[in-house]
Amino acid sequence: MIPNTSSPKTQKERGAFSTPDWVVRLMLGFLRPMASPAPRVLEPACGDCTFLRGLREVHPALFAKAEKVGVELHPASPKGEPGGVRVIEHDFLLWEEREAKYDLIMGNPPYGIPSPSKHYAYRVSSATRSEYKKRFRTWFGKYNVYGAFIEKAVRLLKPGGQLLFIVPATFLLLDDFKKLRAFLAEEGQTQLVYMGDGVFRPSASITTVILNFIRGREDAGRLLLQDYDAETGGLKEIRRLAAWHGEIITFTTEFTERLSALCSARLGDVFAVKVSPRTPEIRGNPLIAKEPTPEMLPILNGRNLKRGKILYEPLSGYWIHPRHKNKLRKFFETPHVVVGLGFRGDRELGAAYDALAYPWMGDVYHLLPHHSLWRTTHLEPADVVNYLNSPLVGRYIRDSFREIVYHLNITLLKLIPIPEEALGNVKKFPLPKQEAQFPTKPS
Ligand SMILES: C[S@@+](CC[C@H](N)C(=O)[O-])C[C@H]1O[C@@H](n2cnc3c(N)ncnc32)[C@H](O)[C@@H]1O
Repeated sequence: MIPNTSSPKTQKERGAFSTPDWVVRLMLGFLRPMASPAPRVLEPACGDCTFLRGLREVHPALFAKAEKVGVELHPASPKGEPGGVRVIEHDFLLWEEREAKYDLIMGNPPYGIPSPSKHYAYRVSSATRSEYKKRFRTWFGKYNVYGAFIEKAVRLLKPGGQLLFIVPATFLLLDDFKKLRAFLAEEGQTQLVYMGDGVFRPSASITTVILNFIRGREDAGRLLLQDYDAETGGLKEIRRLAAWHGEIITFTTEFTERLSALCSARLGDVFAVKVSPRTPEIRGNPLIAKEPTPEMLPILNGRNLKRGKILYEPLSGYWIHPRHKNKLRKFFETPHVVVGLGFRGDRELGAAYDALAYPWMGDVYHLLPHHSLWRTTHLEPADVVNYLNSPLVGRYIRDSFREIVYHLNITLLKLIPIPEEALGNVKKFPLPKQEAQFPTKPS
């Protein structure tokens, strides 16, 4: 076993943000009755055993009869361990538990992309990172340690055992967590309580959910998504699924339901979404010039894309002969709709029609119609541009994905509902500050 040899210094490097007491109490309120006369309880990444202390306070009888274990990479408990708790000094992700499994696992695992690089906050050696990758079947893409903590904790549960974690909400939406979502759906039932971004303020403004997971194949695939109402302390149901298979978990509102009802397809059904070449590809390409000849075209980038408009001006500093642009990407030969995802403000998308079919680079995406479906939609490219730039889509994005991700990615872009026909002239249906009006579909 390769020990985690990092010796983190700062609170951020340790992924250490203490869980407020009210959140611990809220989470312990989800506890299910335990049949076992001597339940086994575990707090991974226990810090100074915040959750075990909470258990002692909220459920003293359970605390008294339970066998209690904490695992912590850097045990340093200013308060001293609560009586009867065995704290094991170890990397939880590399810890080999040989004893029986647990009835209850609870806590606030660290988060961060594990990396030896100083650009990442969760610092581990590359040997440790390789070891993590080997051990976790949910590891994918730029995985985050909290995903591995969830997988490991689920594996350590007895059948019927309960996991209570407070974790970042990104696993609901991001592709990096698709294996984790499928794993959860397969292994048991999942309740998620959306907490917004206030729980760890001012230390961190991370958007979190409470994960309440019960292991067991019988109820596997059940999913309940709820909101925590800070004013009443109550929970409000957002969605309930009887057969979740690990699909992306979006939020629904009356608005998103009504817009979806007006649309029979999603953007990803009608269009293939392609990425522009990134700077390293452009830089290393012998067909690209920094000093143009008169017939060359400037390569456009995100700064050339405005809502509904393209500035055909040299802003990137890179050029290509029109004869070669199809060698960069075949689709640069055909006029099509281009989309930028990093638009801030009340709408997060910016779309325009590239009628002159220029070459592009950077964070600009290309919508290429799947022709069979495109023809059935009765849409013109201008309708798609107007619709994507409209407040309707801005509102749909905010309602569905909330503040979990800073900007959209291709997977989320593909989920946007697309009408078969222009939704009237969307400009005629301005959104008042809060409420969206719905255009009636033209007959
Ligand atoms: C987010 S803090 C949570 C502390 C405490 N559980 C709470 O809720 O207040 C995470 C803790 O995880 C520890 N930690 C980080 N990586 C770990 C690992 N791989 N194995 C065990 N503990 C780890 C840190 O040292 C830190 O104490």
